[in-house]
Amino acid sequence: MSDIDKQNELKRQVAEAALKQVRSDMVLGVGTGSTVNCFIDALGESGIQLEAAVSSSEATTERLKAIGVTVRDLNNAGTLDLYIDGADEFDAHRRLIKGGGGALTREKIVAGASRKFVCIVDASKKVGVLGKFPLPIEVIPMARSYVARQMVVLGGQPELREGFTTDNGNQILDVHNMDLVDPVEMEKKINNIPGVVTCGLFAIRPAEVVLMATESGVDTF
Ligand code: A5P
Repeated sequence: MSDIDKQNELKRQVAEAALKQVRSDMVLGVGTGSTVNCFIDALGESGIQLEAAVSSSEATTERLKAIGVTVRDLNNAGTLDLYIDGADEFDAHRRLIKGGGGALTREKIVAGASRKFVCIVDASKKVGVLGKFPLPIEVIPMARSYVARQMVVLGGQPELREGFTTDNGNQILDVHNMDLVDPVEMEKKINNIPGVVTCGLFAIRPAEVVLMATESGVDTF
Protein backbone atom coordinates (compact mmCIF):
# COMPACT_ATOMS: atom_id res chain seq x y z
CA MET A 1 0.00 0.00 0.00
CA SER A 2 1.38 3.48 -0.88
CA ASP A 3 1.66 6.14 1.85
CA ILE A 4 -1.30 8.01 0.31
CA ASP A 5 -3.41 4.83 0.33
CA LYS A 6 -2.43 4.20 3.97
CA GLN A 7 -3.43 7.74 4.96
CA ASN A 8 -6.73 7.43 3.10
CA GLU A 9 -7.40 4.17 4.91
CA LEU A 10 -6.76 5.92 8.27
CA LYS A 11 -9.14 8.72 7.28
CA ARG A 12 -11.77 6.13 6.37
CA GLN A 13 -11.32 4.38 9.74
CA VAL A 14 -11.65 7.56 11.79
CA ALA A 15 -14.68 8.59 9.72
CA GLU A 16 -16.35 5.27 10.57
CA ALA A 17 -15.54 5.80 14.27
CA ALA A 18 -17.14 9.27 14.22
CA LEU A 19 -20.24 7.87 12.57
CA LYS A 20 -20.96 5.91 15.76
CA GLN A 21 -21.79 9.23 17.47
CA VAL A 22 -24.32 10.27 14.82
CA ARG A 23 -28.06 9.66 15.23
CA SER A 24 -30.82 10.04 12.66
CA ASP A 25 -32.71 12.68 14.65
CA MET A 26 -29.73 15.06 14.69
CA VAL A 27 -29.05 18.33 12.99
CA LEU A 28 -25.35 17.73 12.52
CA GLY A 29 -22.61 20.31 12.02
CA VAL A 30 -20.19 19.20 9.32
CA GLY A 31 -16.68 20.57 8.78
CA THR A 32 -14.48 20.72 5.71
CA GLY A 33 -11.51 18.84 4.29
CA SER A 34 -10.41 15.46 3.04
CA THR A 35 -11.09 13.65 6.35
CA VAL A 36 -14.58 15.13 6.50
CA ASN A 37 -15.08 14.08 2.89
CA CYS A 38 -14.43 10.47 4.02
CA PHE A 39 -16.95 11.03 6.81
CA ILE A 40 -19.56 12.28 4.35
CA ASP A 41 -18.93 9.23 2.13
CA ALA A 42 -19.36 6.94 5.17
CA LEU A 43 -22.52 8.82 6.18
CA GLY A 44 -23.93 8.31 2.69
CA GLU A 45 -23.25 4.57 2.86
CA SER A 46 -24.55 4.19 6.43
CA GLY A 47 -28.25 4.53 5.76
CA ILE A 48 -28.51 7.15 8.56
CA GLN A 49 -31.15 9.70 7.52
CA LEU A 50 -30.10 12.93 9.26
CA GLU A 51 -32.84 15.39 10.06
CA ALA A 52 -30.51 17.99 8.52
CA ALA A 53 -26.94 19.27 8.54
CA VAL A 54 -25.31 22.67 8.92
CA SER A 55 -22.30 23.02 6.66
CA SER A 56 -19.02 24.89 7.16
CA SER A 57 -18.27 25.50 3.47
CA GLU A 58 -19.68 25.55 -0.04
CA ALA A 59 -17.64 22.42 -0.85
CA THR A 60 -19.14 20.49 2.06
CA THR A 61 -22.64 21.72 1.21
CA GLU A 62 -22.26 20.34 -2.29
CA ARG A 63 -21.11 16.94 -1.00
CA LEU A 64 -23.86 16.73 1.61
CA LYS A 65 -26.50 17.54 -0.96
CA ALA A 66 -25.07 14.90 -3.29
CA ILE A 67 -25.79 12.20 -0.68
CA GLY A 68 -29.30 13.54 -0.09
CA VAL A 69 -28.77 15.46 3.17
CA THR A 70 -30.83 18.60 3.74
CA VAL A 71 -28.48 21.51 4.48
CA ARG A 72 -29.96 24.07 6.85
CA ASP A 73 -28.89 27.68 7.39
CA LEU A 74 -27.29 27.97 10.85
CA ASN A 75 -29.66 30.84 11.65
CA ASN A 76 -32.56 28.39 11.44
CA ALA A 77 -30.90 25.52 13.26
CA GLY A 78 -30.51 26.56 16.91
CA THR A 79 -27.83 24.84 18.99
CA LEU A 80 -26.40 21.77 17.28
CA ASP A 81 -25.81 18.54 19.21
CA LEU A 82 -22.64 17.60 17.42
CA TYR A 83 -20.00 19.06 15.11
CA ILE A 84 -17.61 16.82 13.22
CA ASP A 85 -14.50 18.24 11.58
CA GLY A 86 -10.85 17.55 10.88
CA ALA A 87 -7.78 19.57 11.86
CA ASP A 88 -4.30 20.37 10.63
CA GLU A 89 -2.73 19.91 14.10
CA PHE A 90 -3.90 19.03 17.60
CA ASP A 91 -2.18 18.98 20.99
CA ALA A 92 -2.72 17.05 24.22
CA HIS A 93 -5.36 19.59 25.35
CA ARG A 94 -7.35 19.03 22.11
CA ARG A 95 -6.45 22.55 20.97
CA LEU A 96 -6.23 22.78 17.20
CA ILE A 97 -4.86 24.56 14.20
CA LYS A 98 -7.42 24.56 11.40
CA GLY A 99 -7.88 26.36 8.10
CA GLY A 100 -5.57 24.47 5.76
CA GLY A 101 -8.58 24.33 3.45
CA GLY A 102 -9.47 27.97 4.14
CA ALA A 103 -12.84 27.29 5.79
CA LEU A 104 -11.73 28.28 9.32
CA THR A 105 -14.24 31.06 9.97
CA ARG A 106 -17.38 29.09 9.16
CA GLU A 107 -15.83 26.09 10.93
CA LYS A 108 -15.30 28.13 14.09
CA ILE A 109 -18.84 29.49 13.91
CA VAL A 110 -20.44 26.06 13.50
CA ALA A 111 -18.19 24.55 16.19
CA GLY A 112 -19.17 27.42 18.50
CA ALA A 113 -22.85 26.75 17.88
CA SER A 114 -22.46 23.05 18.76
CA ARG A 115 -22.61 21.34 22.15
CA LYS A 116 -19.88 18.87 21.24
CA PHE A 117 -17.02 19.11 18.74
CA VAL A 118 -15.58 15.75 17.71
CA CYS A 119 -12.37 16.24 15.76
CA ILE A 120 -11.30 13.47 13.37
CA VAL A 121 -7.64 13.13 12.42
CA ASP A 122 -4.93 10.66 11.58
CA ALA A 123 -1.79 10.32 13.69
CA SER A 124 0.21 12.72 11.49
CA LYS A 125 -1.75 15.64 13.03
CA LYS A 126 -0.59 15.10 16.65
CA VAL A 127 1.99 17.61 17.96
CA GLY A 128 3.54 18.51 21.31
CA VAL A 129 3.24 22.27 20.72
CA LEU A 130 1.05 23.78 18.00
CA GLY A 131 2.70 25.77 15.26
CA LYS A 132 4.64 23.60 12.88
CA PHE A 133 1.70 24.00 10.50
CA PRO A 134 1.54 27.64 9.32
CA LEU A 135 -1.30 29.39 11.13
CA PRO A 136 -4.08 30.46 8.72
CA ILE A 137 -5.71 33.83 9.36
CA GLU A 138 -8.75 35.04 7.40
CA VAL A 139 -8.46 38.77 6.72
CA ILE A 140 -10.66 41.44 5.17
CA PRO A 141 -8.81 42.20 1.89
CA MET A 142 -8.16 45.91 2.63
CA ALA A 143 -6.51 44.96 5.95
CA ARG A 144 -4.17 42.33 4.48
CA SER A 145 -0.91 44.31 4.68
CA TYR A 146 -1.72 45.87 8.05
CA VAL A 147 -2.54 42.48 9.59
CA ALA A 148 0.61 41.01 8.04
CA ARG A 149 2.72 43.71 9.73
CA GLN A 150 1.00 43.04 13.06
CA MET A 151 1.77 39.33 12.70
CA VAL A 152 5.45 40.18 12.22
CA VAL A 153 5.26 42.13 15.51
CA LEU A 154 3.82 38.96 17.09
CA GLY A 155 6.86 37.02 15.84
CA GLY A 156 5.51 35.33 12.71
CA GLN A 157 6.30 35.33 9.01
CA PRO A 158 3.06 35.85 7.10
CA GLU A 159 2.57 34.65 3.55
CA LEU A 160 -0.47 35.51 1.42
CA ARG A 161 -2.28 32.41 0.14
CA GLU A 162 -2.02 33.39 -3.53
CA GLY A 163 -5.07 33.04 -5.76
CA PHE A 164 -7.35 31.98 -2.91
CA THR A 165 -10.59 33.64 -1.82
CA THR A 166 -12.61 32.27 1.09
CA ASP A 167 -16.32 31.47 0.89
CA ASN A 168 -16.80 34.82 2.68
CA GLY A 169 -14.93 36.78 -0.02
CA ASN A 170 -11.81 37.32 2.10
CA GLN A 171 -8.12 36.37 1.92
CA ILE A 172 -5.89 34.05 3.95
CA LEU A 173 -2.50 34.81 5.46
CA ASP A 174 -0.55 31.67 6.38
CA VAL A 175 1.76 32.66 9.22
CA HIS A 176 4.94 30.65 9.73
CA ASN A 177 7.06 30.20 12.86
CA MET A 178 4.56 31.48 15.42
CA ASP A 179 5.33 30.79 19.07
CA LEU A 180 2.12 29.06 20.17
CA VAL A 181 3.17 27.84 23.60
CA ASP A 182 0.14 29.76 24.95
CA PRO A 183 -2.40 29.31 22.15
CA VAL A 184 -5.35 30.74 24.12
CA GLU A 185 -3.56 34.04 24.65
CA MET A 186 -2.34 34.14 21.05
CA GLU A 187 -5.82 33.40 19.70
CA LYS A 188 -7.19 36.37 21.67
CA LYS A 189 -4.37 38.69 20.51
CA ILE A 190 -4.75 37.79 16.84
CA ASN A 191 -8.53 37.99 16.86
CA ASN A 192 -8.24 41.49 18.36
CA ILE A 193 -6.33 42.88 15.37
CA PRO A 194 -8.70 45.03 13.28
CA GLY A 195 -9.26 43.38 9.92
CA VAL A 196 -8.84 39.84 11.21
CA VAL A 197 -12.01 37.84 10.68
CA THR A 198 -10.65 34.95 12.70
CA CYS A 199 -7.49 32.90 13.10
CA GLY A 200 -7.17 29.15 12.73
CA LEU A 201 -6.41 28.56 16.41
CA PHE A 202 -9.16 26.60 18.12
CA ALA A 203 -7.81 26.95 21.66
CA ILE A 204 -10.31 29.14 23.54
CA ARG A 205 -12.86 26.52 22.50
CA PRO A 206 -10.95 23.29 21.86
CA ALA A 207 -12.54 20.09 20.60
CA GLU A 208 -14.34 18.06 23.26
CA VAL A 209 -13.07 14.82 21.72
CA VAL A 210 -10.30 13.98 19.26
CA LEU A 211 -10.53 10.66 17.46
CA MET A 212 -7.13 9.78 16.01
CA ALA A 213 -6.66 6.91 13.58
CA THR A 214 -3.43 4.94 13.91
CA GLU A 215 -2.30 1.76 12.19
CA SER A 216 -3.41 -0.17 15.28
CA GLY A 217 -6.87 1.39 15.70
CA VAL A 218 -8.63 4.62 16.63
CA ASP A 219 -7.45 6.38 19.83
CA THR A 220 -9.67 8.78 21.76
CA PHE A 221 -8.34 11.92 23.45
C1 A5P B 1 -10.41 23.32 6.47
O1 A5P B 1 -10.37 24.70 6.41
C2 A5P B 1 -9.57 22.82 7.58
O2 A5P B 1 -9.78 23.40 8.80
C3 A5P B 1 -9.60 21.32 7.69
O3 A5P B 1 -10.41 20.89 8.72
C4 A5P B 1 -8.23 20.87 7.95
O4 A5P B 1 -7.40 21.50 7.01
C5 A5P B 1 -8.08 19.36 7.87
O5 A5P B 1 -8.18 18.95 6.55
P1 A5P B 1 -7.83 17.48 6.11
O6 A5P B 1 -8.85 16.58 6.72
O7 A5P B 1 -7.93 17.54 4.60
O8 A5P B 1 -6.44 17.18 6.56
